[in-house]
Amino acid sequence: MKAVIFDLDGVITDTAEYHYLAWKHTAEQIGIEIDRSFNERLKGINREQSLDKILIHGGAAGKFQEAEKQEIMRRKNQYYQQLIQNLTPHDLLPGISVLFAELKREHISIALASSSRNAPAILQRLGVMDEFQGVVDPAALAHGKPDPEIFLTAAALLGVPPSECAAIEDAEAGIAAIKSAGMFAVGVGDETSLRGADLIVHNTNELTFELLNEGWQRYCCIREGK
Ligand code: G6P
Ligand code: MG
Repeated sequence: MKAVIFDLDGVITDTAEYHYLAWKHTAEQIGIEIDRSFNERLKGINREQSLDKILIHGGAAGKFQEAEKQEIMRRKNQYYQQLIQNLTPHDLLPGISVLFAELKREHISIALASSSRNAPAILQRLGVMDEFQGVVDPAALAHGKPDPEIFLTAAALLGVPPSECAAIEDAEAGIAAIKSAGMFAVGVGDETSLRGADLIVHNTNELTFELLNEGWQRYCCIREGK
């Protein structure tokens, strides 16, 4: 394992909750109700894909012109940005800063593969920008998760082959993207929504170098057919 690639929302900090609240609020304004179970399907996917899924869910696919959709997304992002403006280093999820330190000690590179265009601002507020040797710009990608492009781009930024990378995700679409990229997939959450992950933890404080490395060794044995 030469690199660990992190998702942001729901892995490094709990902004997945703020995305949910912002979409719930915005969807209500156009007469659509969403709940936490539906929200699982929005995790990891980009803004445009999220709105499309919400419109289909509310039976409103095709109801809005492109300019109206842009306005709905602008409102969601504005509300979301209000929710994240007071983030501080205290908002790092448990265990994450210790894991960054352990990876540094082990000379393992770190990159960010988040679909969020707000990611750089969030890393700044959390005070962890300097931990990353690579941050993928999601606006420069042709395909969103579950396509592997974002994880392959992160590996390329670090100059590490995908077969030497582990990646950590809280979303179904993210785990699928990691597996298609040919990487070791670590899921944060529950088994039902993270099927396909090579290793699952329920909370970020379980994410130690020791656990990742044990999982990595097992994964390599299976991969090599030992
Ligand atoms: C992440 C989150 C999604 C969010 C997406 C786009 O992948 O998991 O819930 O929709 O980023 O975020 P943005 O900040 O660009 O709207
Ligand atoms: Mg996430």
